[in-house]
Amino acid sequence: MKLNIYLETKKSLIDNALETFFAERKSNKKESPFSLLYEAMHYSLFPSGKRLRPILTCAAAEAIGGKTEDVLDIACAIEMVHTYSLIHDDLPAMDDDDYRRGKPTNHIKYGEATAILAGDALVTEAFGLIAQARKKLNIPSDTLLEIIEDLALACGASGMIGGQLLDIQIQEKSEDEINYPELEFLYIRKTGNLILAAITSGAKALKASEKQIKALTQYGINLGLAFQVVDDILDMHDNYRGPDGGKKPAFPTILSLDETKQRSWELASRAVEALKEFDQKADPLREIAHYVVERRE
Ligand code: IPE
Ligand code: IPE
Ligand code: MG
Repeated sequence: MKLNIYLETKKSLIDNALETFFAERKSNKKESPFSLLYEAMHYSLFPSGKRLRPILTCAAAEAIGGKTEDVLDIACAIEMVHTYSLIHDDLPAMDDDDYRRGKPTNHIKYGEATAILAGDALVTEAFGLIAQARKKLNIPSDTLLEIIEDLALACGASGMIGGQLLDIQIQEKSEDEINYPELEFLYIRKTGNLILAAITSGAKALKASEKQIKALTQYGINLGLAFQVVDDILDMHDNYRGPDGGKKPAFPTILSLDETKQRSWELASRAVEALKEFDQKADPLREIAHYVVERRE
């Protein structure tokens, strides 16, 4: 399997499904007073990022014997939640970033109020999209309720949003006050939780067994953390509180760069190890674990 072809194929299926969401809203006249809001939502979703989280939803469904089409709307919802988190993360009150996905951030383009609302709308619509999977993808209501519950927990006050608050608070601390377990705790929440929920939602939609969910949870926890550790390595020159004075503490400020890379490899191999009972249908998940630590963007 060529992973780059796999990733490109999934990305275009996800992009098309997201475009369909907007096309349906555009064709509905009741939605027209809100065209600016839809435009701002669309602006941050396209051109796309890596689409890693929705691709993981599809790959997890495949590992259980399903197809991308079986979980496409759930995958789109996961990407909408991720994109909302990026819009809010970039706001002046948060990381105050001017560029995202190769262009000006949402608040630079549309102003803060519209950017906040575009984020709010993306996350709210995402939950609606999952609920609609009952009719569109024929997934039973109790399964969808479990997926919604997992996602709400993963992204809620003690999940991604809590992690974002810790990320702000930790910036007030001096380097010797920050330790490895504390940063790991924060990263699991701000980044790892959504990655994990992306994986389990794809598997649960396909009625994975408890044993399969347990293994995929181990895969997801390790992959999610590996992803943020690598993000720190990639961000080093912009963000880390190194000798050139960046703005955020990160793994390479606590460990050496070599130790940080070593740590990301350990996490990726633990992720792959968790899949040992799965057959070749889980190969995309295995290869994605390698991709996450080898990526350059
Ligand atoms: C960026 O996520 C934010 C983090 C959680 C580190 P990605 O690196 O997956 O961003 P996109 O989706 O590819 O733009
Ligand atoms: C973003 O983390 C995490 C969320 C949006 C939940 P970062 O602030 O570290 O990521 P970048 O550098 O802005 O992409
Ligand atoms: Mg940021």
